[in-house]
Amino acid sequence: LRLVILGAPGAGKGTQCERLVNEFDLAHVTTGDALRANKDMETEYGTPRSFMDEGELVPDPVVNEIVEAELTAADGFVLDGYPRNHDQAEYLDSITDLDGVLYLAVDEGVLVDRLTGRRVCSDCGANYHVEFNPPAETGTCDECGGDLYHREDDQEETARERLRVYQENTQPLIEFYRNRGELIEIDGEQSIEAVWEDVKDAVRSTS
Ligand code: AP5
Ligand code: ZN
Repeated sequence: LRLVILGAPGAGKGTQCERLVNEFDLAHVTTGDALRANKDMETEYGTPRSFMDEGELVPDPVVNEIVEAELTAADGFVLDGYPRNHDQAEYLDSITDLDGVLYLAVDEGVLVDRLTGRRVCSDCGANYHVEFNPPAETGTCDECGGDLYHREDDQEETARERLRVYQENTQPLIEFYRNRGELIEIDGEQSIEAVWEDVKDAVRSTS
């Protein structure tokens, strides 16, 4: 099974992927996590950090290389955070076929609140939200007991810039995949559980 999950920053891609990878035994290939793990790596364009902390896209060659390496190693996968522009979508076409593209549709208005309230486990990467999905104990991961942190790029100003970059670069891919008959749109404004039910149905419809 080879899936892409598309959606704006804060749409719930990571949250749904945590469940998807367990339910369908997939590799979670996420460029955001891969880049965060290598934020200070020197590339000919500068470090990933210098783009990420401003809410801008890391240059395509850096990201394409990461994706190609991870996809080659994976059997089934869900690709999260990639492609993010038309050139990346074309690059992806050149390295693999897809069974489906899940699109989590969420209105811009709720996204800033989701991002600024997000907390992430520093050990296992699980996602929480101070209001919508709080951990049992403030600041501590339910899954592994790790400390929760607030992502650098989830400060309000950077979050707004990420949403602008998304509108400009990534939003056009919705039409691109829809025109090819590969897009499965899911209402991402429902509760996490209700979205998950729709995600499972969508994945089953592809196989
Ligand atoms: P990345 O890490 O990919 O961030 P993103 O796409 O902005 O996505 P997020 O992780 O912010 O959101 P999400 O959709 O996963 O939402 P989540 O499930 O956490 O990218 C970061 C940066 O890396 C980029 O800005 C760029 O610089 C660089 N980068 C990455 N990929 C790149 C690429 N391909 N090319 C170039 N540069 C790249 O949910 C958010 C919050 O909402 C959580 O708190 C969660 O608990 C809550 N929530 C989730 N679902 C619901 C729900 N249904 N109801 C209520 N709350 C919910
Ligand atoms: Zn954890």
